[in-house]
Amino acid sequence: MFQFEAKGSEKGAGLAAAVRSVLEGETDVVSALANVSAVIAMYIEGVNWAGFYFLRGKELVLGPFQGLPACSRIGEGKGVCGRAVREAKPVIVGNVHEFPGHIACDSASRSEMVVPLFRGGGVFGVLDVDSPRFDRFSGPEADGLAEAGAVISGWLDSLRL
Ligand code: SME
Repeated sequence: MFQFEAKGSEKGAGLAAAVRSVLEGETDVVSALANVSAVIAMYIEGVNWAGFYFLRGKELVLGPFQGLPACSRIGEGKGVCGRAVREAKPVIVGNVHEFPGHIACDSASRSEMVVPLFRGGGVFGVLDVDSPRFDRFSGPEADGLAEAGAVISGWLDSLRL
């Protein structure tokens, strides 16, 4: 089993390796991604929410997460999450107060990154990470989360669902 570092890694370095480690050998989506949400909250300092939404039809439905209770459903194209699904690429918002239509689940959130996850070439859901700091997701953290998203998508493709 992977030995986890203490909370506070500023660089996001090692995040993808830690994500790979908790996914390895697990085939249950909820169980595995519950651990991934915990790994992300542990690895990136200044994160108040980290978790998943799964695409069910045209709606996003809340999956495993760390943080305050969140909205359980997000309509098509709504919020930062809906934007990431529509564009099928990561969306980074340095100041959520300036994002039209941002959905505030935790009023402490100031910046956010949403990474779409893919299975079989289509969007499976999103990884959503919030921070109470402005511009938290730039540089190494953004790279680490995008890489984590690619690792999760590769793992999803390997599953028989
Ligand atoms: N802020 C997101 C909604 C989900 S919560 O942050 C957990 C959005 O605008 O899509």
